Amino acid sequence: ARTAAVIPAAGRGVRLGPGTPKALRALSGTPMLVHAVRAMAASRAVSLVVVVAPPDGTAEVRSLLDEFPPAGDRTEVLVVPGGETRQQSVRLGLKAVPDDYGTVLVHDAARPLVPVDTVDAVVAAVREGAPAVVPALPLADTVKQVQPADGPEPVVGTPDRAVLRAVQTPQGFDRHTLLQAHERYAHTALEGEGATDCAGLVERMGVPVVVVRGHEEAFKVTRPLDLVLAEAVLARRRA
Ligand code: CTP
Ligand code: MG
Repeated sequence: ARTAAVIPAAGRGVRLGPGTPKALRALSGTPMLVHAVRAMAASRAVSLVVVVAPPDGTAEVRSLLDEFPPAGDRTEVLVVPGGETRQQSVRLGLKAVPDDYGTVLVHDAARPLVPVDTVDAVVAAVREGAPAVVPALPLADTVKQVQPADGPEPVVGTPDRAVLRAVQTPQGFDRHTLLQAHERYAHTALEGEGATDCAGLVERMGVPVVVVRGHEEAFKVTRPLDLVLAEAVLARRRA
C-alpha cells in the first residue's frame, strides 16, 4: 500500500502577526512549507506529497517548491488550492490523492521540524491495521476548563492531566476512512462545528483512533515565540 502526505498550508497565520502567509515565512532562509515537505519526503514510505496552498498563491507555491525540491528524492509533489478552514483545505487535498494510495498522512505546514522517526511510527501503526493514528505528547501544564468571559473567567473544572495528550501531526489514516469522514462532515467546516484535526472527524464516525508518542520537535509554529524556538532547533541540528 502506497502512502501519500497531504500538507494543509493555506492558512494566513493570523496569530503569528501580519506579513506573508505563515507557510511561506522563512526559517533560517528556507520557507516553512519547504521544511514540512522535506520532512514528509524524508520518510521512505511517502511517495506523494499534496500541498494545499492559499487559493491566491498556488502559482507562487508551485515555483517555490520547484526551486527547493526535496533533496535527491523521487517523491512527487502536487499543489492544489485550499479553502477557508483547515478542514476544507484537507478535503481539497485529499481529492487530489489517487485511489491507489491506501494510507494518507495529514501534516500541518506549520510543523516544519517533525523528525522522520515520528512520521515513520505513524505510518507503521496505520500499516499494522489502525484506521487512524495520532502522534501526541503528555501535557506540561495543568489545564482548566472555564466559562469564557472578557474579565476573569470562572473555572468549571480541572481535567486529570494524566489522561490528556497534546495532539500533533502527521496524523495517519486508512485513506477510505479519512475520505468517508471528510465527506460525511463536510458541512460542519463552515458552521463553526468543524474539527481542528482530522482525527476528530474520524472519532465522530465512531471509528477508533489511537495515539502514538509524538515528538517535542513536532511543535506547531503558531505565535512569534515559536519562530525563535524553530530557529534554535535548526541551529542545533546544524551544529
Ligand atoms: N490551514 C489551511 N487552510 C486554512 C487554515 C489553515 O490549510 N484555511 C493550515 C495552515 O496553513 C497550517 C495548518 O492548517 O499549516 C494548521 O493551522 P494553524 O496553525 O491554525 O495555521 P493558520 O490557520 O495559518 O494560523 P492562524 O490560525 O493563527 O491564522
Ligand atoms: Mg488556524
